Order: sequence, then C-alpha cells, then structure tokens
Amino acid sequence: MHIIKTVADLRAWREPLWPDGKILSFVPTMGALHEGHLELVRVGLDQADICLPYIFVNPKQFAENEDLAAYPKTLDDDLEKLRSLGIGTVYVPDIAEIYPQNFQTTVTVSDISKPLEGEYRPHFFQGVTTIVCKMLLQCLPEITLLGEKDFQQLQVIRQMVRDLNIPTKINGVETVRDHHGLALSSRNSYLSADDYPIAVQLNKILRKLAFHEINEEQAHQALLDAGFTKVDYCTLCNSHSFKAEGVLDRALVAAWLGDTRLIDNMPVSM
Ligand code: PAF
Repeated sequence: MHIIKTVADLRAWREPLWPDGKILSFVPTMGALHEGHLELVRVGLDQADICLPYIFVNPKQFAENEDLAAYPKTLDDDLEKLRSLGIGTVYVPDIAEIYPQNFQTTVTVSDISKPLEGEYRPHFFQGVTTIVCKMLLQCLPEITLLGEKDFQQLQVIRQMVRDLNIPTKINGVETVRDHHGLALSSRNSYLSADDYPIAVQLNKILRKLAFHEINEEQAHQALLDAGFTKVDYCTLCNSHSFKAEGVLDRALVAAWLGDTRLIDNMPVSM
C-alpha cells in the first residue's frame, strides 16, 4: 500500500495522471471506515480509473466539547479494508502538513451552513469546507464522492465547489444502512447493546415523517418516547436552502442517545 503523507508527494503522484488521460476520483474520510465509506470507494473505482481515499481526522470541525479525542482511530484496519477493495494508494497527511503553524484561512459557505447542523454545531461546516477545499485543491480530482448520510454537508460542499469554481464533480452516494435501517456511521461504535434498539427507531420515525404519516411535532415526541434523550431537530425542509420554505423535499433528524448524537435524512414522498 502506497501511503502519501505530504502535499508535495501527493502532487508528484497526481501530475502524471493528466498526460496519461486517467480520471481520478477522491473519497474524503476521517477513517474508522465502515461499509458506507467502502461503498463510496466502490463507486469511486467504478466511475474513475483511479480512486484515492484520504484519511484525516479534521480537528477544525469538532468543537471543544465534542468527541475529537474519542473519535475512533483505526488506521491499520482502515488500510486493510481499502487494500481488500483494490486500493493501492491512500492519502494520510499529518496534522502539521495540513495545518502548519500560522495557518490563518477558513472557507465559509454562508446561508445553507446556518440552519439545522449549522445551528447546533456552529463551527462544523466551516471546519468541513476548509479541509475539503484544501484537499480538493491539493489533488484536483475529476470526481469527488460524498455520502448522502451527511446530506447538508453534501449540499454545502456542492455550493462551495460551484461558488469557487473548483474543477471537480461532486457525486452523492446513497446512505448505506444495516439490516434494521440504521444509517451506518463511525459514531455507531459508541452505541451500547441497550442503545441499539432505540437507535434503530431513528430511521423508522423519520420514514413516517417523510411519508406524511406523522407531523414534525409527533415525530419529535415519538423519538423521545422511543428513548432518545434529546432531539436537536426532526424536520421537513427544502433540500437546497435547508429551511422550511418552498418545496419541503427532505426529512432530516439529529437526536441524542446519551453522549452519542445520531443524524439521518431521506427524501420526502411527494
Ligand atoms: O464526512 C466526513 O467524514 C468529514 O466531514 C469529511 C468530509 C471527511 C471532512 O473532514
């Protein structure tokens, strides 16, 4: 496995792909890879000649009270999973390479970063857009794969790429779920055996909201009744503005089970 650690080595590896006419796809990750990430890689391999995943736990998208220290770090296991898919090269930069001393720049997408995730995690999208913008400029992939599981993140990155004319095509990949419909997430590893039956209610209650079987208030109450300790939001909104305006075509939820925050989303039945 070829592990690239520096921007200079990344560029040296990337440059010959242009004259060779090779299409590059890029899969941004923070590691702790699960089937959802592996599906992004499979799609990336399918849509391009070469797929480059990156693994970097980005401190700038975690607030001080969040789970950066506890975030699962499983590099050897991650590399093994990527190798088994036929990945030959992975970008795994160090923190000092990405955020050297005196790093001062942030990338902010204004309006659609503000509601929902932006309201409850105000630092989050700026951290994401700053790192993803840097990574895209470092390797200029023709295609970038992102999961629909983080749907607002996907749309915020699409907006950034459009606004800044970054020459990559952002392709969203459908959420991968376990056999109970729970959206796969690295944070699922925090769930205890007692949490799991509660966690799987998230997608079921959201589905009822998305199919207009219950309204937002009922969905909120159903989550609390199911055992979620707090609900940040459970709402129908427009999939471009993330506000309750115009066509309400996406259902999104964020709810807590103790210290674990789970999110999910799905299209609204029209
Ligand atoms: O979705 C994630 O894992 C992260 O937010 C991303 C896109 C890799 C940026 O750090």
